[in-house]
Amino acid sequence: MKSLKTTDPEIYKLIKQEEKRQEEVLEMIPSENYASKAVLEALGTVLNNKYSEGYPKKRYYQGNKIVDDVESLAQERAKKLFGVPYVNVQPHSGSPANLAVYVALLEPQKGKIMGLSLAFGGHLTHGQPVSATGKFFKSVQYTLGKDGYLDFDAIEKQAIKEKPDIIVCGFTAYPRIIDFKKFAQIADKVGCYLMADISHIAGLIVAGVHPSPVPYVHIVTTTTHKTLRGPRGAMIMVTEKGLKKNPDLPKLIDSAIIPGIQGGPHDNQTAAIAVALKEASTPQFKKYGLQIVKNNQMLAGELLKYGFNLVSGGSDNHLILIDLRNKGVNGSVAALSLEAAGIVLNKNGVPYETMPPFYPSGIRLGTPAITTRGMKEKEMVKIAKWVNDVVDESRKYQLPEKKEDRAEFWKKLKLEIFKNKKLSEISKAVKKLAIKYPVFSL
Ligand SMILES: Cc1ncc(COP(=O)(O)O)c(C=O)c1O
Repeated sequence: MKSLKTTDPEIYKLIKQEEKRQEEVLEMIPSENYASKAVLEALGTVLNNKYSEGYPKKRYYQGNKIVDDVESLAQERAKKLFGVPYVNVQPHSGSPANLAVYVALLEPQKGKIMGLSLAFGGHLTHGQPVSATGKFFKSVQYTLGKDGYLDFDAIEKQAIKEKPDIIVCGFTAYPRIIDFKKFAQIADKVGCYLMADISHIAGLIVAGVHPSPVPYVHIVTTTTHKTLRGPRGAMIMVTEKGLKKNPDLPKLIDSAIIPGIQGGPHDNQTAAIAVALKEASTPQFKKYGLQIVKNNQMLAGELLKYGFNLVSGGSDNHLILIDLRNKGVNGSVAALSLEAAGIVLNKNGVPYETMPPFYPSGIRLGTPAITTRGMKEKEMVKIAKWVNDVVDESRKYQLPEKKEDRAEFWKKLKLEIFKNKKLSEISKAVKKLAIKYPVFSL
């Protein structure tokens, strides 16, 4: 068979360019990471060629003996690593995993989801009205307190009033430890299911630097490509507590995935998940998780010294949410300026946001990917300084007050920003640091 380089030089070249980009920038989007060579290798294998609708030993297609072993191995590794009696490793990604749980448990248009509002750090699939999860099911959203922390008194009051069928905890932009026990007390009082979406913190849980939800919740969902450092994919787990509440949960979830919302599993992805789970069960992974948090705390401490306003005042985990209003810079402008300087993160809304989603007031950044590269606390000191210098420089690009002027401003800024001398100087220094920590020879 011919190689990609020979068959499709255009795509090959683009992939090589992306490889170079990933090598030369500081990848600080907290939901991204660098999967290992072994994980990427498993993804690019002949397992891609197989159809295996169904589950091990119960397939709708022939020829699945080996795929059965792959999927069973992934299941066994996940069960052992997270301490759960059941797992489904087939969700194609995090969003279908969450949807499948609702399909398994809720009656369309009647069942009610209660999740953290997107504007406060929840995920689209936690029942936001624009997502299928909010369109096909009833949903109510809780918010954070003024201090940026979960307000359990308010959540309890709302749960008692709204009587949801499922409460979702586990978030996309929450920088603090999640108290799963408190959520469980509320869910148990209301008599509803409790689901923890640990997509962001799965790797931290495995490493023992964030408490596990397993003793407290009924269902756990997680993506496999964030702190867990695997391929894009997801898993749904049922805990002992979940089985006690409803022994049919495994059956319901399996059939919500197929025939409910998916067809065949991606067997190459399943194999890569198995590889990632093996990697995550090593002592080195524990060290990695600990270092993510150490790095993030150093970064947060340094940013505070520069007068940055961190939502909730700091961070306990792998991510930091900065409210830039006191700096006089819009989040979208800061994110673009930082990209021009080689620091890749994302613009983000902040609690009690006053701006629209495309021009939010904050930025979100984190340390999982740069920690994979081997960076430690001393690099975080440098990075915080660069972030501060870039934000200072970007103050000259003021987002127009008038909404109708913003699209034109944005179009011009996207060209202009990459010509900014100060930012391009910083990007050279960033690149010099980045390439000292090679990614693809890991
Ligand atoms: C908490 C949480 N759940 C689910 C998802 C969805 O994952 P995916 O993008 O793989 O569908 C994300 C992704 O950002 C997330 O942060």
